Amino acid sequence: MAMTRESWQTRIGFILAAVGSAVGLGNLWRFPWMTSENGGAAFLLVYLGVVLLVGVPGLLAEFVIGRRSRRNPVGALSDLSESSAWSAFGHVFVVTAVVLLSFYSVVGGWTLRYFAGSFTGAYFGAPGAYFDSINYGVEAVGFHLLFLGVTALIVLRGVRRGIERATKLMMPAIVVLLLALAAWGVTLDGASEGLAFYLSPDIAFLQANFLHILPAAAGQALFTLSLGAGTMLTYASYLGEDRSLAADGTAIAVLNTFVGVLAGVVVFPILFALGVGAGGGGPGALFVSLASAFAALPYGQVVGVVFFGVVVLAALSSSISMLEIPVSFLVDEYGLSRRAAVTSLTGVFAVTGAVCALDQGVFGFVAGTLVDLLLTGGLVGFMLFAGWVLGADAVTELQRGSGSFARSLATPWLYAVGVFIPVFLIFTFVSGLADAAGVAVGPLSLLGVTLGPTRILLVVTAVVAVASFLGLRRSRSVL
Ligand code: PHE
Repeated sequence: MAMTRESWQTRIGFILAAVGSAVGLGNLWRFPWMTSENGGAAFLLVYLGVVLLVGVPGLLAEFVIGRRSRRNPVGALSDLSESSAWSAFGHVFVVTAVVLLSFYSVVGGWTLRYFAGSFTGAYFGAPGAYFDSINYGVEAVGFHLLFLGVTALIVLRGVRRGIERATKLMMPAIVVLLLALAAWGVTLDGASEGLAFYLSPDIAFLQANFLHILPAAAGQALFTLSLGAGTMLTYASYLGEDRSLAADGTAIAVLNTFVGVLAGVVVFPILFALGVGAGGGGPGALFVSLASAFAALPYGQVVGVVFFGVVVLAALSSSISMLEIPVSFLVDEYGLSRRAAVTSLTGVFAVTGAVCALDQGVFGFVAGTLVDLLLTGGLVGFMLFAGWVLGADAVTELQRGSGSFARSLATPWLYAVGVFIPVFLIFTFVSGLADAAGVAVGPLSLLGVTLGPTRILLVVTAVVAVASFLGLRRSRSVL
């Protein structure tokens, strides 16, 4: 299909859009929630490991496929492989987008509500009770629809410039506000307990709960980097050949992780000072802690307005990137007009989001386990595609525009994304499924040695990894 494709005008345009997609409710809201429910520092440790070892190489896999194909995820997979199986797999990303935006828009609605509430001081009196009174129900549906409507309008008008400009202001504003809040939060009574929970890992706890923590930490790492949904692939499809994918990817990952970790430094001291404590935060961790911070601060109302205003912007620059994927798919592959695509998809999201806004159980499952599984599965697909379908072409693509250091890492990278990381992610996927279904693996006695669940899965993982590594080396399409 002959298409002239827009491209980013400046390097910073691409980085900002990608950072805009990455930095959002994932860092500010979902990260503290997941951390509070999965043991604090133990979770943080696993999460950072996954960001570094899986996140950065994964980001590059999406970038490589996107820039090579210059298409949306479905088109990219079918064009580059000419296989109907890959094209069928590509449709998973449409499902992922539906799932993502359904709950994201509900949380976006909460942030709008808090933004408005900051003007009036609505939540100042009883921050905990306030969250409980607004989180699910008919009014939550209303705010979800409002947030979704704004997202749809932006995507409809394609005001990339507006979003780019907003992102430019937003990023420094978020960081400055978070730093200031952190400086204030750590002085509170009880803050040190919060910091200890967040920053000093309990290794025995980690070992005992590894199979429970790992899928959640991996899912969160992918979520916060917008990986496994085709977003980064699509953004890179507008990228010129002279850009260093490796340098841009690293910059995006570092910036994004910094914001998430900082959000934890703000939230946990305040939560502990409030007496909410470990594990008690839930999806309300961010809202409850900040609301009480603003209630106690001088000029809290002003700070609240600015802060939640910025959070709304951060959420929007992520939600538009979620909507853009299925829209560009319908436009590219089915020839729908942009307007028809946006309108019909928004209709679907309005309903699926309303279901999440009405039921806490559905919300928790969709925003937690379901998303973790979909993103993990999606990223595995992209990585295997880069390793086994593109093969040597992926190496060439990664090297294009890169410095000598990144060029020398391109081949090891291909083995990592073609073999080791997918095997690791399949391992987390299986433990996530088992965890969600409440199935315990093992223990198993083998040749007189008793293996616990983690070891059984590790052994299987290692065997599969070695076998497929040998396969990739022999595969003629590669190297
Ligand atoms: N990374 C975004 C956030 O942290 C969420 C997101 C996930 C956006 C997947 C696009 C795709 O809020």
